[in-house]
Amino acid sequence: MYLSTLLTATLLPLFTSKTTASPLLEKRQTIDPPARYYLRTQTVNGPHEDTGTNKTDLWLYSHHTGAGLGDAGLSSNQSWAWEGYLNGSQQLFTYEDNEVGPWPLAVGYGPYQQWNPVTISIAAESSTGQGFFFNSSGLQFNQSIGGWLACDWWHGVPQLFQLNGYSYGPLPSSCSKVQLLPVAI
Ligand SMILES: *[C@@H]1O[C@H](CO)[C@@H](O)[C@H](O)[C@H]1NC(C)=O
Ligand SMILES: *[C@@H]1O[C@H](CO)[C@@H](O)[C@H](O)[C@H]1NC(C)=O
Ligand SMILES: *[C@@H]1O[C@H](CO)[C@@H](O)[C@H](O)[C@H]1NC(C)=O
Ligand SMILES: *[C@@H]1O[C@H](CO)[C@@H](O)[C@H](O)[C@H]1NC(C)=O
Ligand SMILES: *[C@@H]1O[C@H](CO)[C@@H](O)[C@H](O)[C@H]1NC(C)=O
Repeated sequence: MYLSTLLTATLLPLFTSKTTASPLLEKRQTIDPPARYYLRTQTVNGPHEDTGTNKTDLWLYSHHTGAGLGDAGLSSNQSWAWEGYLNGSQQLFTYEDNEVGPWPLAVGYGPYQQWNPVTISIAAESSTGQGFFFNSSGLQFNQSIGGWLACDWWHGVPQLFQLNGYSYGPLPSSCSKVQLLPVAI
């Protein structure tokens, strides 16, 4: 009895101050992804709302651009998907028999850009690519305002980009807003 009274007396003020805290300090609604998963796209506005090409059910992988370097590529072929896991706030990838990883997902920020490139490269610094978490809309980047974008781009395959808050005009016609949903392995 004494203990519960004490707990109520000491916890209540804490609880009250937490719920009235500034929105910036409120805990973000996150969920734990599966231990290991592939990331698969789902269009935000329906397959043909944004564009003429269907960006649903594409699997995320690192599209080779050099030794240890890759851009975030998307393939309709599931056997191309890389195996992802969340480590702290890093979205890391590996693949079968990989000896050199892990490979962190990283958003390449550019000032006053409507969207940013995304890479899956072996990082020189282990701190690369912090700030990722999951909620029921899939993988999130904590500095992202616009979410993810899938576009047919310079590698001749769909590629992943991150949409900024800046809006300078319509998106290219091959781009769709997508979510990245984990599919447990
Ligand atoms: C989009 O692609 C997915 C995966 O191939 C397919 O299941 C779906 O039917 C397509 N939707 C449209 C409207 O073409
Ligand atoms: C999917 O990719 C694998 C590995 O590259 C390849 O062997 C297979 O033929 C591909 N399947 C299709 C339907 O393209
Ligand atoms: C998780 O991140 C820590 C800190 O960077 C690193 O030391 C560790 O090897 C990582 N674990 C895995 C399984 O990638
Ligand atoms: C995003 O996450 C990183 C790593 O956890 C953190 O250092 C950074 O302050 C966060 N930024 C925002 C805007 O939440
Ligand atoms: C997931 O997080 C993103 C980015 O913070 C937010 O825009 C979105 O509304 C969240 N989704 C849900 C279902 O809470």
